Amino acid sequence: MIRIPELLVEKLRAATHVTVLTGAGVSAESGVPTFRGEHGLWKSHRPEDLATPLAFRRDPVLVQDWYRHRRALVQACAPNPGHQALARLETLVPHFTLVTQNVDSLHEQAGSAHVLHLHGSIAQSYCADCGKDADLDAGTSLPVFCLACGGLVRPGVVWFGENLPHDTLEQAENAAAQADVLLSIGTSGVVYPAAALPLIAREHGAFVAEINPERSAIAHQLHLWIGAPAGEALPALVTHLEADHA
Ligand code: OAD
Repeated sequence: MIRIPELLVEKLRAATHVTVLTGAGVSAESGVPTFRGEHGLWKSHRPEDLATPLAFRRDPVLVQDWYRHRRALVQACAPNPGHQALARLETLVPHFTLVTQNVDSLHEQAGSAHVLHLHGSIAQSYCADCGKDADLDAGTSLPVFCLACGGLVRPGVVWFGENLPHDTLEQAENAAAQADVLLSIGTSGVVYPAAALPLIAREHGAFVAEINPERSAIAHQLHLWIGAPAGEALPALVTHLEADHA
């Protein structure tokens, strides 16, 4: 069993507002590949070929095909004990905000009631021209066109060079600023503005801890690092807190 520092447990027990930021590492134990690291997606694919508006205009078939594959992969995955522990944590804290960079819906599937999706959702898709909802999985031939206007259908994710959903980002920044404790879990801390949330929390006086087998790019600016997989550390942490509520 992972040893959870008593300091973190004490901070969580005393906290009124807890904010959690998750990244691809939280879904790694469900079988969803991360982006960076040895087996990360960006090792074998270039983001500028697949995850930018320019890449989509240049080669919509390649981009649609790649997202259809990733969509199918994600749909075949199930929440892991890390997702489940975060859903339990939500019920133990007076004010809890879960912010994710992940485009899967594994937090919701695990039972998390309110999730702020900073980078959209891979299950959704819409027309790049008219903006109406459209199905990227419609038919077998590529490219997939919008039935309403004939435009190209794109995945409902945020690409490099695009703005994050304004209201969602604002809510996430407010939750970071109000947090007594922020947990940054399974994120490499290199993609902004998400990576700024732990730093905003710290600036506003929160206790900020990271859970990640490797130190992220921002780990040195946080209070505590737990070097363990989320699927092991989070259940251990929540078990400590649940003992108080028993
Ligand atoms: P990354 O792939 O950059 O980082 C994943 C992090 O998870 C790494 O720091 C790993 O050490 C860590 N990790 C791996 N297994 C873990 C486990 N079992 N438990 C906990 N941590 C683990 O993923 P993100 O930081 O989420 O953006 O990437 C941020 C954004 O970059 C993504 O949302 C995506 C990507 O390009 C867009 O597509 C816009």
